[in-house]
Amino acid sequence: MEDRVVDGKVLNQEAEDEKSLRPQRLNQYIGQDAVKENLRVFIDAAMMRGESLDHVLLYGPPGLGKTTLAAIIANEMGVQLRTTSGPAVERPGDLAAIVTALEPGDVLFIDEIHRLPRAVEEVLYPAMEDFFLDIVIGKGPSARSVQLELPPFTLVGATTRAGMLSAPLRDRFGVMSRLEYYEPKDLEDIVHRTSDVLQTEIDATAAEEVSRRSRGTPRIANRLLRRIRDFAQVRGDGTITDQVTREALDLLQVDTLGLDEVDYKLLYALMDRFKGGPAGLDTLAATIGEESHTVEDVYEPYLMQIGFLQRTPRGRVLTPMVYDHFQREVPAEWK
Ligand code: ADE
Repeated sequence: MEDRVVDGKVLNQEAEDEKSLRPQRLNQYIGQDAVKENLRVFIDAAMMRGESLDHVLLYGPPGLGKTTLAAIIANEMGVQLRTTSGPAVERPGDLAAIVTALEPGDVLFIDEIHRLPRAVEEVLYPAMEDFFLDIVIGKGPSARSVQLELPPFTLVGATTRAGMLSAPLRDRFGVMSRLEYYEPKDLEDIVHRTSDVLQTEIDATAAEEVSRRSRGTPRIANRLLRRIRDFAQVRGDGTITDQVTREALDLLQVDTLGLDEVDYKLLYALMDRFKGGPAGLDTLAATIGEESHTVEDVYEPYLMQIGFLQRTPRGRVLTPMVYDHFQREVPAEWK
């Protein structure tokens, strides 16, 4: 589809779709039942009391809907959502600019909150606990400290691992919710919902196939779906069939378990270079040319979830399931 031009700005269709695909309310959000049920109660209780919602920490692997949930929380509370991210808030003054512009009850979403600089974190503590800001303005002899009262607000923080947060920051969240990889059935429902939003027909078996090959991750399912839709449009009659899905996913090099090129590099390195492991994280990451934290936060969690990889005190170790998947013999020493 063509990009649209509005007020001289080119709007990327895919970026627009991404926003409109997102559910706006809790009852439209598929899966994560435990998280939803808890949030429902806490939101309703805060609304009944006419208070702002307690601060919420959402943690779990990328692509599972943390940003979407933050937007839903704001919608359900009937307040505005302000969004930023840990690395974007470089100095205490940046945080001051954001929080002093909040209206009572607003939701402030900080993505990658574990990457907030320590000096900013320290200013955040009293802001979260007592809604006041204590900042130093100016430098040297003319520096002075100012205290500002803030409206009550809800901080929604997102991180890939709660363990990466400092203890004092973690302790200031009243609600901590862990997002899990989606069940295949939930992912299938999401694929059907997205197809509806994109006004694309999809066969039930095709939706099953996409969900099976999306690593329990809606962001991946929706991205694959858009690519498969391209194939269906150009090579078929626009309907997403089982056959077009399999062909497209093979061409996209997404295997039957949803493993991609980086997973393959990682698994082959462990099989061939490290004889099944153990291998240290940094060595392994360097071998395949990826950042250690990407390997740790993005690739390993799913490989562990499907039982392919274990983290041991001596390093990363493969399981016999990997050798099965690649139809290879397990290392001689394992027998
Ligand atoms: N799109 C992406 N994630 C979703 C979810 N959890 N529920 C509904 N639609 C989604």
